[in-house]
Amino acid sequence: MTPLHLVVLAAGKGTRMRSRKPKVLQPLAGRPLLAHVLDRSAALDAAACHLVVSHQQERVRAAFAESTLPLDWIDQGEPRGTGHAVFRALEHVPDAARVLVTYGDVPRIPVADLEACAAGDGVTVLAARVADPAGYGRLILAPDGALERIVEDKEASIDERAVDLINTGVLAAPAGDLRRWLAACEPAPGGAREWYLTDVVAAARADGSAVKVAESRDPAAVLGVNDRAQLAVQERLYQQAQAADMMRDGLALADPDRVDVRGVLTFGQDCTLDVNVVIEGTVTLADDVYIGPGCVLRDCQIGSGTQIAAHSILEGVRVDADARIGPFARLRPGTVLGTGARVGNFVEMKNATLGPGAKANHLTYVGDARVGAGANLGAGTITCNYDGANKHHTEIGERAFIGSNTALVAPIRIGDDATVGAGSTLSDDVEPGALALTRARPRTIRDWPRPKKTSKNKES
Ligand code: UD1
Ligand code: MG
Repeated sequence: MTPLHLVVLAAGKGTRMRSRKPKVLQPLAGRPLLAHVLDRSAALDAAACHLVVSHQQERVRAAFAESTLPLDWIDQGEPRGTGHAVFRALEHVPDAARVLVTYGDVPRIPVADLEACAAGDGVTVLAARVADPAGYGRLILAPDGALERIVEDKEASIDERAVDLINTGVLAAPAGDLRRWLAACEPAPGGAREWYLTDVVAAARADGSAVKVAESRDPAAVLGVNDRAQLAVQERLYQQAQAADMMRDGLALADPDRVDVRGVLTFGQDCTLDVNVVIEGTVTLADDVYIGPGCVLRDCQIGSGTQIAAHSILEGVRVDADARIGPFARLRPGTVLGTGARVGNFVEMKNATLGPGAKANHLTYVGDARVGAGANLGAGTITCNYDGANKHHTEIGERAFIGSNTALVAPIRIGDDATVGAGSTLSDDVEPGALALTRARPRTIRDWPRPKKTSKNKES
């Protein structure tokens, strides 16, 4: 069997993005454009994957240092066009191989389209029929319907501009032929013209070689990203397709156009995402989980039956079954909630555990702490974990009751079944079952005459 060599072009500057970041590292659904291209390329089981880079290549190489797909990095040097990029890659490809060229900025290229091009034996160009062909190379067909040549937008005549069959950039050809044709297409030295990969079509025909056109069934998926508007279009299309897949797999979405998954979401049965939920990293939902409007979850595991009310932000959190969270809760890395635990509005937690059935229902900060099962933290409970230099731990026993507006100065231990009176500031441990409180005695002065404004201070 003819070995397949992939050539991925990623050396362009991406000037139109107007970004300091190389274009192929711009994120689509939270991952670099190039990562999507490589995922799809991996499905082809190619003998090699040659990545042509130039502009900011250290950053691109670093971003893919851990890639599971073996990558052959090729430095194009000064980019002189797509023909030059492929020609450089061909130095690493044996004549007998079949070459499949893809672009690092076409992140949603369908695997079926790549396979269709890879399968042929002569030259195959992947084309798409689009409503607005402006900016793309046009496929010019001979009267017999065969592909004659590809003309770039800026060089096309008015009639050619009206052609709606565009070059996606994906092209497959036998390596030895491609090398020969490209060498013949090289623009004369000194000229400003780029070296076009697309010129091999006319060269192949002149050589008597068949040139096939494969038309993509998903024209929106084969369009590249050149600027931020096109990136946003691809992001939406990606999210819509992903939402459709998730609904097919049983996830309930209040509105498939208002959910963003920038990572991997796995879910059990009867889970619901309300509008404007953002999922990042790796998030796992067991059965019957509800996530309210405007929530953000990054790298979380959520147990069955748990409900997260609107506008809660969870990162690096593990939640057991039947917990109630939010609205407006902020759970930071290292938060663990036991079964049936409750975290209400304006509660922040970090590196802290709430045992089964424990509650922190309002306006509370729990950091570097362990709270036992069934304990209740009143409104305004603060674990003072930071002394300005170091962090300290707070331990609160099972069924302990912490009155409202209490400051627990860590390190501190509150025993099982202990009670802390509202408004206390404690820095000493409290024994199990004890009541501890610090509270100034109120003083009442009867019939106290309020100060009156002197005439000097009277408003004019
Ligand atoms: C190219 C095609 C055009 C097609 C369009 C599809 C050519 C001459 N034109 O035009 O027919 O309709 O793509 O999007 O091929 N690159 C390099 N090295 C270079 C130049 C480019 O690696 O020297 C890479 C870029 O990073 C990019 C890809 O090749 O990934 C395409 O380059 P770009 O400049 O975007 O080509 P277009 O003008 O869009
Ligand atoms: Mg382009």
